[in-house]
Amino acid sequence: MSSTEDLDYPQILFQYNNGFLVSKIMFTACELGVFDLLLKSEGSLSSDAIAERLGTSISGMERLLDACVGLKLLEVEMKSEGAFYRNTELSNLYLTKSSPKSQYHNLMYYSKTVYLCWHYLTDAVRDGKNQYERAFGVSSKDLFGALYRSEEEMIQFMYGLNAIWSICGRDVIAAFDLSPFTVIYDLGGCAGGLAQECISLYPKSTVTIYDLPKVVQVAKERFVPPEERQITFHEGKLGLFCVCSYAKKTVLNGPCFMITECNENSHHPFLFTSLHVRSFPSLRRNCEALKCFQRIMCLLDV
Ligand SMILES: C[S@@+](CC[C@H](N)C(=O)[O-])C[C@H]1O[C@@H](n2cnc3c(N)ncnc32)[C@H](O)[C@@H]1O
Repeated sequence: MSSTEDLDYPQILFQYNNGFLVSKIMFTACELGVFDLLLKSEGSLSSDAIAERLGTSISGMERLLDACVGLKLLEVEMKSEGAFYRNTELSNLYLTKSSPKSQYHNLMYYSKTVYLCWHYLTDAVRDGKNQYERAFGVSSKDLFGALYRSEEEMIQFMYGLNAIWSICGRDVIAAFDLSPFTVIYDLGGCAGGLAQECISLYPKSTVTIYDLPKVVQVAKERFVPPEERQITFHEGKLGLFCVCSYAKKTVLNGPCFMITECNENSHHPFLFTSLHVRSFPSLRRNCEALKCFQRIMCLLDV
């Protein structure tokens, strides 16, 4: 029930109303390289210096920096010469490109792709389908055809996913005891962020990433170095039955663990794994804990 205070001053509604402004401020500061510059400079800088080095207007940069201070993404110190800005610990860790936990690519994906799609949310609700056609002029019948409409877009998507795994991949992998499984398949394993976490926690395991040919090619070129012998690739286009036959053909002995996406409405492999998860009640309970990651790990009895 709402309190009188909430009704007199609907703070929560103002927060919701301004939510997209907050996102855009963070995206813009990232995109312009504010956090990277401040990391490199190893000290605080004035807004004029930041504007000059990043090639922006002085007034625009000053406002952006002050907004970032308000959002606790930057700190400001008032000196006799004026205001000097520096990164917070949070920004150094997550908003700079070079940090191992960088969310830069994830944020850029949200800024340049997700944000544009959400502009059409009203249409999406009316039509009951995603809005890639309106937002980007590409057919949305094949979701991954739309998501991977250019190589640049696909690479950004792959970096974005890996960025998330750099924060929560360890927890997801550690949620189950995978030590009995040395042969692991990651269906739709993309750039291999989760596979990397898996072999680091279970050094005796090998992970095979199964994904679309063009994804596998980029994953090999940019994400998984060839000397990483514990991660291998298998390229192809999976369908529901294809997953079963692939697993049966490939895994000759012993138990095998498959990692894939939880999406009950999806066609192809994901449906297969969610069906199996239903028949493992304890696994399902564990998966509840992982709901926020929308990932499910499924024990496959081959
Ligand atoms: C939402 S992404 C998840 C990627 C990865 N599991 C992760 O969490 O980072 C789904 C993955 O499935 C792959 N994929 C989609 N359709 C596929 C198909 N028919 N056959 C093989 N891989 C597919 C995509 O290329 C993408 O890497």
